[in-house]
Amino acid sequence: MARRKLIAGNWKMNGSLAALAELDGIAAAARAAPGVDVAIAVPATLIAPAVARVSGIAPAAAREPGLAIGAEDVHPAEKGAHTGCISVGMVKEAGAVFSIVGHSERRADCHETDQQVKAKAEALRRGGLGAILCVGETLDERDAGRAEAVVTGQLAASLPEDAAADWLSIAYEPVWAIGTGRTPTVADVAAMHGAIRARLRALIGQEADAVRILYGGSVTGDNAAELLGAGDVDGALVGGASLTAAKFVPIVEAGAALA
Ligand code: 13P
Repeated sequence: MARRKLIAGNWKMNGSLAALAELDGIAAAARAAPGVDVAIAVPATLIAPAVARVSGIAPAAAREPGLAIGAEDVHPAEKGAHTGCISVGMVKEAGAVFSIVGHSERRADCHETDQQVKAKAEALRRGGLGAILCVGETLDERDAGRAEAVVTGQLAASLPEDAAADWLSIAYEPVWAIGTGRTPTVADVAAMHGAIRARLRALIGQEADAVRILYGGSVTGDNAAELLGAGDVDGALVGGASLTAAKFVPIVEAGAALA
């Protein structure tokens, strides 16, 4: 099945109002690449100004077809006594059209469980937003030969009800490849994506063939073409290299060349 590539950025705890100027070049590249979807997840405080910047209109009405702006995390509850947390409704009001859930940094820093990740994804679906659900093994787990078991286990335990390709993507991000400049071999990436696809098929049947599986971890303009060309790789989730247009646009272009 032909799946559109999705090139997504994750700014993590980086960026500022001034840094939103980088979105101009990224949005222009997205408009020039209609064959791929391009998205950037930004810190919650930057969602509304980012949406305004890429759309040029009021945040509440914003839907820029070229570049989708999203959140990096959401709380599963609609509202309530959860100091410091942000709901799906809040990020939606700010103009976000998707959110990342289950990033390994949140699983590690905030002790998020598969069950919580699942609840977050389901809250996004109820709110009509897209989700990028992250899974990935640590280096110890890979060295112990448990990478596939860990990743497919995370997938099975955090996959939301009603998982479907029109709102959900999976991101395979080996923890040891994030921010390190190290990447798995293309063969290892293809093998893991194949294992994720197979587990998805077991869980949701034919719909699994339409769900996009992104690779994340030290993706750059130099390795994007090779990684995006690997079997069952339907896009990239990019951290450091998404912070500037100069670094991110070549990754968008690598995706477009494969479209
Ligand atoms: P880097 O691209 O900086 O390795 O980060 C990947 C990542 O964690 C994206 O979510």
